[in-house]
Amino acid sequence: EQIEKGGYEHFMLKEIFEQPKSVHDTMRGRLLVDEGIIKMAGIWDHVEKFKNANRIIIIACGTSWHAGLIGEYLIEEYARIPVEVEYASEFRYRNPIITDKDVVIAISQSGETADTMAALKLAKEKGAFIYGICNVVDSSIARITDAGSYTHAGPEIGVASTKAFTAQLTILTLIAFKLGKHNGNLGNAEFMSLIAELDAMPKKIEEVLSSTHELTQNIAKDFVKATNFLYLGRGYNYPAALEGALKLKEISYIHAEGYPAAEMKHGPIALIDENMPIVIIAPRKGHYDKIVSNVQEIKARKGKIIAVVNKGDRQVSEMADYVIEIPETSECFSPIVASVPLQLLAYYIAVYRGANVDQPRNLAKSVTVE
Ligand code: G6P
Repeated sequence: EQIEKGGYEHFMLKEIFEQPKSVHDTMRGRLLVDEGIIKMAGIWDHVEKFKNANRIIIIACGTSWHAGLIGEYLIEEYARIPVEVEYASEFRYRNPIITDKDVVIAISQSGETADTMAALKLAKEKGAFIYGICNVVDSSIARITDAGSYTHAGPEIGVASTKAFTAQLTILTLIAFKLGKHNGNLGNAEFMSLIAELDAMPKKIEEVLSSTHELTQNIAKDFVKATNFLYLGRGYNYPAALEGALKLKEISYIHAEGYPAAEMKHGPIALIDENMPIVIIAPRKGHYDKIVSNVQEIKARKGKIIAVVNKGDRQVSEMADYVIEIPETSECFSPIVASVPLQLLAYYIAVYRGANVDQPRNLAKSVTVE
């Protein structure tokens, strides 16, 4: 096992550090930057299905569901196809309206999650075209779907998903750009600049890993005794906030809630005092001014602010107690870079609390029962 961990103390840490490679592997052979092409047979062979779809319904559980939410933002922004995202467990039992004009995408690292599988079967029975985004090759979900794209993240052992999540975001980004280009919503110049940026993501993740590794350890030390955490973000980073909170609760057993920053005033603001740590994801691109005013509201209530911002940020950083810098990207890529320090922060808080990081209590890597 020590050998498999490759010198890291836990699989989770190893997997966090593998992300430059896993994102790269997920794009390999698909993203041909010089030719300006995204090659995805699963999409291309059925492109008319996607193009003519009434809507795309994304179903998933857990971390994969968070990736799905970001997928909704991506596909709606770039391909202009309506998307709905549902928890597989809700979808399967609520007699949903599905027709043969719908495309249903299941996202699942393991490809074995019982609820996701059952939801897919239901969609198939009702005539929808079903597509899989799985990490495990030849898994049950990969086998029953009409088509799909594998994330090539490699085996993920830590129960809390890290590299599978960023690989799922990579696939969803490729799908959104490919469909957008095909149906004319994404112009050539923008397409070319976005794919060049996507191609550079492994490097950016590398940068974030080295610039935030020590910093997140130091921040973690101050929150070992925390009992609650709030995670806030807007736009693409709202699901990133949900995922940051999920990581923390899964492995450290600290109660954590993710929220869209603007919803704070409808509830969570009542919880803010000097004992409440708040992680706020505030990159420059993406409603920055609005976030500044959310941070002012937190500051006025003495919340402890851990801000994830772009290099050189001033306004939010001046109000924050802790600042984590990430490189600037187009908004749609910011969840990929923002998630990395949040994974590290959750990891170190859990380690300092003495928790079993790779196998948290009560959780399973693959939930094959209801
Ligand atoms: C479990 C795992 C999570 C995962 C979820 C969905 O809860 O602990 O890490 O996100 O299942 O799993 P899937 O394999 O379908 O992505």
